[in-house]
Amino acid sequence: MSYETLLVETRGRVGLITLNRPQALNALNSTVMRELDAAFKGFDANKDIGAIVLTGSERAFAAGADIKEMQALDFVDSYLGDFLGGWERVAGARKPVIAAVSGFALGGGCELAMMCDIIIASESAKFGQPEITLGVIPGMGGSQRLTRAVGKAKAMDLVLTGRMMDAAEAERSGLVSRVVAPEKLMEEALATAEKIAAFSLPAVVMAKEAVNRSLEVTLAEGLRFERRLFQSLFATEDQKEGMAAFVGKRKAEFRHK
Ligand code: CAA
Repeated sequence: MSYETLLVETRGRVGLITLNRPQALNALNSTVMRELDAAFKGFDANKDIGAIVLTGSERAFAAGADIKEMQALDFVDSYLGDFLGGWERVAGARKPVIAAVSGFALGGGCELAMMCDIIIASESAKFGQPEITLGVIPGMGGSQRLTRAVGKAKAMDLVLTGRMMDAAEAERSGLVSRVVAPEKLMEEALATAEKIAAFSLPAVVMAKEAVNRSLEVTLAEGLRFERRLFQSLFATEDQKEGMAAFVGKRKAEFRHK
């Protein structure tokens, strides 16, 4: 499949997606949304892929939803067309997604990074929800995912003032998993994805599902859910292999990688 707004390639067991609208700082229009959905679905369905890396350019991961595309929208079209609703499909990738963020991750760009499972940021990264400066509010999850990630104090500060935070503040706040030098960004993101992709794929997908469930349900429900998934993994050959390898003092070779 060929894409207009993305570069999509594989690196071993890692799927690499690069946002590619340099003229608009990777602003997220409906084509990007449709193509990202297709690219994630393709990698999700591909047994040879164990993890996905999503990145942008050095200057911008993504500078938000495409303001020029949405400028003329009215309420009825926006509501009946469920404008931005399709991004929840993009957020529904089952395999782990690592966002490698350099430069601007603003508005929908910050929200897209937060749909990913791990955010690795370059020291140059800048995160923010500037929608308030446009007379609107975040619409791709910013008020919800940012608050869960960094707490109410920081989320209110960012959403109400529209200011940007740098990579160090984002890491301090818990938004970002790691910060690395700009020239190390892709190396770190790809090595992390390769590491994950070498583990048992059913265990990896269940681990992601279990952590995400913690954001949705009570502790008791979450613990039950986790335990059932844990128990079910004893039906896999990879559990036998992983534990036999530990006892035999050798490296595990997972079959369903
Ligand atoms: N939508 C459409 N085009 C955008 C864009 C966006 N979100 N962000 C940047 N661009 C375009 C600019 O219009 C410009 O195009 P032209 O050369 O044709 O004029 C090009 O990208 C380069 O941008 P700048 O010249 O502005 O670059 P800069 O270095 O001076 O500034 C910036 C960089 C601070 C990121 C600035 O571009 C900016 O403020 N962008 C908008 C950020 C924003 O408000 N994002 C939130 C969007 S709303 C949203 O995302 C809603 C939601 O929750 C889903």
